[in-house]
Amino acid sequence: MLTLMLSAQALAHGDVTPQAVDTAGLDPLGEEWLDQNPYGEDYEQRDLAVEIGASAYNQNCARCHGLEGVSGGIAPDLRYLAPGFDGDEWYKYRVVNGAVRDGRVYMPKMAEHLSQEALWAIRAWLETKYVEE
Ligand code: HEC
Repeated sequence: MLTLMLSAQALAHGDVTPQAVDTAGLDPLGEEWLDQNPYGEDYEQRDLAVEIGASAYNQNCARCHGLEGVSGGIAPDLRYLAPGFDGDEWYKYRVVNGAVRDGRVYMPKMAEHLSQEALWAIRAWLETKYVEE
């Protein structure tokens, strides 16, 4: 119940209380955004990236996008995002730009709150949840 109330509130104000994400162990990426997930399937620390991404997602995205990536309908179900480069491009676009319509913030610019490392780790985890449409 508390979670539900909090998510309704977060949505109403479009604000965000980012939770610090510890990305130690992953290759540092710098400020410049990459077009493709450097922690993709072939990444040697893939398991670590997925693990970090899982908790980072649950702390920062789940209240809108749903626990475990299963959307309750408030925001799109991210499990349907195409794996690999196609999904990466759109993923990057959204986390960098957020979503604003008619001056209302539907999704905050998450890249202003979380590091690129944390956001690509989340993407790595999401790929493990991929569901074909
Ligand atoms: C305050 C609620 C909120 C939070 C927090 C939030 N999002 Fe979103 N997100 C949305 C909404 C609403 C949309 C749909 C925007 C639209 O289509 O106009 C969206 C869209 C997206 C999309 C595009 C999905 C598609 O199918 O087009 C991605 C990718 C995404 N969000 C990733 C994330 C990630 C990763 C996080 C956490 C780091 C996050 N979001 C946090 C509300 C949120």
